Amino acid sequence: MRISVDGRAIEVAEGMSLAAALIASRTDGFAPLCGMGVCQQCRVTVDGVAHAASCQIECREEMEVRTR
Ligand code: FES
Repeated sequence: MRISVDGRAIEVAEGMSLAAALIASRTDGFAPLCGMGVCQQCRVTVDGVAHAASCQIECREEMEVRTR
C-alpha cells in the first residue's frame, strides 16, 4: 500500500507500524526510542491530527503523515 510522508509517496507493507515505515523510508530527523508508546519521541501528524504516536499506529492506505 502507499502512504504520503511530508509530501513524498512511499510503499509500505500491510500491517506495518507507521514508525517502522518512517524508519524504513529513512525519513530525516525521525528518531523513535521505545517503540511501545511511552517516550513520545515518534509523534507525527496523521491526516491532520497532531501528536500521534507513530509506533502505536498501523499504516493505512492513503494516510498522510507530516513529521515537521
Ligand atoms: S517510539 Fe516511544 S512512544 Fe513511540
